[in-house]
Amino acid sequence: MFQTIEPKILYFGTPVVLISSLNEDGTPNLAPMSSAWALGWTVLLGLGTTGKTYENLVERGECVLNFPSDALWSAVESLAPLTAKTPIPPHKQARFRYEPDKFGSANLTPLSSLCVKPPRVAECFLQMEAEVRNIFSIGGQESETAAIEVQVLKVHAHAEIIHSLNHIHPAKWHPLIYNFRHYFGLGMELGKSFRSET
Ligand SMILES: Cc1cc2nc3c(=O)[nH]c(=O)nc-3n(C[C@H](O)[C@H](O)[C@H](O)COP(=O)(O)O)c2cc1C
Repeated sequence: MFQTIEPKILYFGTPVVLISSLNEDGTPNLAPMSSAWALGWTVLLGLGTTGKTYENLVERGECVLNFPSDALWSAVESLAPLTAKTPIPPHKQARFRYEPDKFGSANLTPLSSLCVKPPRVAECFLQMEAEVRNIFSIGGQESETAAIEVQVLKVHAHAEIIHSLNHIHPAKWHPLIYNFRHYFGLGMELGKSFRSET
């Protein structure tokens, strides 16, 4: 039996990304996001246009997509009520606070990148350096959302999650899943795709 419902959000279970970008004064910003998907080395990011991360991507065109494991969920959640945007956008004023040092406040460690200026997050075992290729307004005229197409330039994987040359070990990589605003890890492996090389 089904009913039609109207959920406020449709976050149906996607991996969390900590996106680092560079503020105008050269300091790094770090924001959790989960509306992201990859095809080849292209990644599409769904971002609110009132956030500091959006501004940084428009103005400086570079980021690192850092993938936290499920063990990092509380560090991710500690970043959730923060924005580096000042003044804080009106719709966020009640529940968000301004924080210019997101790395420090979440106890995460910046690590230099190879191809872009924003730093990587040392605690995230999978990191992708990327540059902006296209920005699309989405969601209609009144919407404050955009899809940002980025080109991945460099992928870093911690030795612990590498299976063999150029392959991530799927049983050792534990992405953090954002599932209707609750955090989950993965369940047991069920099987593998006919295209799997591991
Ligand atoms: C787990 C999680 C997932 C999120 N996913 C997104 C997302 O996909 N897109 C987005 O614009 N904001 C997302 N947010 C909200 C941003 O993190 C939030 O707007 C933050 O204030 C942005 O920081 P900034 O203004 O410093 O860039 C998410 C937050 C959390 C905690």
